[in-house]
Amino acid sequence: TNNQPVIPRSLIVKVQGVSLPDHIAKAFEAASAFTPDPSDLIIISYPKSGTTWIQEIVDLLLHNGDDGSSKRASIVKRHPFLEYCICYEPSGLDLLKEMDPPRVIKTHMPLQLVPAGFWENKCKIIYIARNAKDTLVSYYHFLRMSKISPEPGPWEGFIHKFMRGELGWGSWYDHVKGYWEEREKRNILFLFYEDMKENPRREIERIMKYLDLYLPDDVISHIVEMTTFKNMEENPMVNYSFFGKEIFDQTISKFMRKGEIGDWKNHFTPEQSAEFDEDYQKKMKNVNIPFRAQF
Ligand code: A3P
Repeated sequence: TNNQPVIPRSLIVKVQGVSLPDHIAKAFEAASAFTPDPSDLIIISYPKSGTTWIQEIVDLLLHNGDDGSSKRASIVKRHPFLEYCICYEPSGLDLLKEMDPPRVIKTHMPLQLVPAGFWENKCKIIYIARNAKDTLVSYYHFLRMSKISPEPGPWEGFIHKFMRGELGWGSWYDHVKGYWEEREKRNILFLFYEDMKENPRREIERIMKYLDLYLPDDVISHIVEMTTFKNMEENPMVNYSFFGKEIFDQTISKFMRKGEIGDWKNHFTPEQSAEFDEDYQKKMKNVNIPFRAQF
């Protein structure tokens, strides 16, 4: 049944000093020229920080907790991925052209590369951040199974690529620092994956208020339930089973892989962890972003 052409794994190229998979770099100029509507909502993250989780929560909040509505289409069709451009799928921009505002738009672009229109039109922006080591582990497993993405290579070298900002969407350190420093000035709702895990209801209520929505308690409880790891793992509209094996080969690793805090402890040796932490302190010394479960 699989007549899909094989799409080769992308390579990393630099755009304005930021590492991007080459198929994303190709779409960069068109994506930069995109102007959102002021009513559009933007969800931003470094890859593997819990983007899909926030997307599903936002979608349910916007549809009053109605599961039917959140199951109307896959998460990639509901929320176009701005810079996504793979020849055999509609690109993010193609999808956006077909949709009327208010839209929800996903991007992984670092602050300096997002379209100027985001700021000009004062769109609401939700940023989700996850501690570096768990993000790295999640990214590693994702790249093993994402056949269109650059090869992760061996684990040891992968850690160094992450530390040097050589993975797609560049340096995790610069990404989170960029948005953290601008969050107040630009009215960005800055969320942490670890806070979501600790108390999803509290964080869902924060998102709701940011969106100027006021839903009854039972609807919020329903959204909490619908967006547990277990329920999202089984939901074909969010678990990426809608992508063929030639795009995501989930027999290698699931998109909804573990959904835990601290899985890095099962991957880093004590030496790797010490080296990573020392470098982390240097790179993050000028900011105090309250990441938990980092060390
Ligand atoms: P793991 O690989 O650690 O399991 P993104 O959506 O930004 O690509 O992030 C994917 C990561 O978020 C994966 O992490 C995935 O399992 C996790 N995730 C997705 N939905 C989740 C949920 N409802 N609860 C906890 N983690 C979730």
